[in-house]
Amino acid sequence: MWTKTVDRCWLTVIPKKEYTMFSKEVFAGRRAALLKSGLKGIAFFPANDEASLNYPDNTYRYRQDSNFAYFFGLDTPDLVGVIDFESGEEILFGREITIDDIIWCGNLPSLTEQGEMIAVKQTRDINGFGEYLRDAVAKGRQIHMLPPYRGDMKIKLAKWFNTDIDSLSNYVSQELIKEVVKLREIKTEVEIEDMEKAAVTAYYMHTTAMKMCKPGVIEQEIAGAVEGIAISNGYGVSFPVILSVDGQTLHNHNHNNILQEGRMVVCDAGAETKNYYASDFTRTIPVGGKFNSRQSDIYNIVLKANMEVIKNTRPGIRYFDMHTLAVRTIIEGLNAVGLMKGNVDDALAAGAHFLFMPHGLGHAMGMDVHDMEGLGENNVGYDAETPRSTKEGFKGLRCGKILKPGMVVTDEPGIYFIPTLIDIWKAEGKHKEFINYDKVETFKDFGGIRIEDDLLITNDGNRVLGRPIPKTVAEVETCCAEGREWMRIPGII
Ligand code: GLY
Ligand code: MN
Repeated sequence: MWTKTVDRCWLTVIPKKEYTMFSKEVFAGRRAALLKSGLKGIAFFPANDEASLNYPDNTYRYRQDSNFAYFFGLDTPDLVGVIDFESGEEILFGREITIDDIIWCGNLPSLTEQGEMIAVKQTRDINGFGEYLRDAVAKGRQIHMLPPYRGDMKIKLAKWFNTDIDSLSNYVSQELIKEVVKLREIKTEVEIEDMEKAAVTAYYMHTTAMKMCKPGVIEQEIAGAVEGIAISNGYGVSFPVILSVDGQTLHNHNHNNILQEGRMVVCDAGAETKNYYASDFTRTIPVGGKFNSRQSDIYNIVLKANMEVIKNTRPGIRYFDMHTLAVRTIIEGLNAVGLMKGNVDDALAAGAHFLFMPHGLGHAMGMDVHDMEGLGENNVGYDAETPRSTKEGFKGLRCGKILKPGMVVTDEPGIYFIPTLIDIWKAEGKHKEFINYDKVETFKDFGGIRIEDDLLITNDGNRVLGRPIPKTVAEVETCCAEGREWMRIPGII
């Protein structure tokens, strides 16, 4: 966090951003659209501060708040963007750069110049923001703020409002959340272009993983190479890389295993552009480059579920129904290989598939990999006609709403064999009319399979973003066979 007592620089490199950020008209247009929403009073959007890692000046890679970035574009801390719905004023509160900033970080744009970069004419000193806010509260004006999610921001907000942290929820505006979701969920051409870049970067991340997936390799070596591709192209990762032979652990960030023949690696990774647009793909790769028959049987069930969703996803349908289609395909496939049994409709209605796929089909994606999840999953993923299900096997779905052109969603079915979950269900005899526990027992060493693509909803269907990443058994095996050299530093791992 910026403090006035410490002489330090802005670690964010603004000049680099100048040629990558969208034109000022893009940000002006977004604010103009919000101004037309009919809200009353003022909305304000604080920029994220730097976040300290192990001492104040050693910070994590800077990440702007997505809502600030959406309306005010700038990639710097210590700013607040304000929109006054009655006067139409737009104000950028910030601070002037100091000679210390220049010494440590070079010539950075002044506050006025930063305002010009995003077409905001009025700039004011950030030290006056608390007074501005309290004055608006005292005048009885409506204040619209989005839910804060960082501890340091909550402290700052409490200070600005002169209140306690628990009372901040009084200023969180459901109306503003609704308007922001309406704008951000429909991606415009420039946003889609950026997401394509993130998706193409993911192609190189995933094909690199395939080429390195050989016995004796340590997961960390692949995870590092995958992340390095995003970083060396000027991007970041859109979330910490998930990469493990223990793919049955859904979000596995442990990369300590040494790869062995007969296992598969689940690699779930995506890039984040300089404008913060994400990609999020998953591929499952056989160690040594060849699936055995047990693996390819299960792999092809997951692939079919992924492809059925691609075939059927279009505007006007509920993504909840695509989740149902995916799990129905999985139940049918597991019945065919003898892991499940009985009537498919009944198994589906009972939620028996939850043993194998204990997560939803997908989520919205945009400037956040789980787009706008900080505004509330139900506010983003559900609508008035689609309330969230309360049933096991369906309630975990992050996005169930009616799809519209311009939305981007992930399609990420999976089948997992989670030994502890199997033990618990088996001991309870849970859904034993649908699950062949004797056969499931023999899969406890299998791990998991997930296949994920990013779908842009078009006017008449959908389009998978990016360059097609090898996905069929044959495509994955061909890519693995290419191989790749890399360097292991002797004596380190
Ligand atoms: N790719 C990680 C997730 O969707 O949760
Ligand atoms: Mn995902």
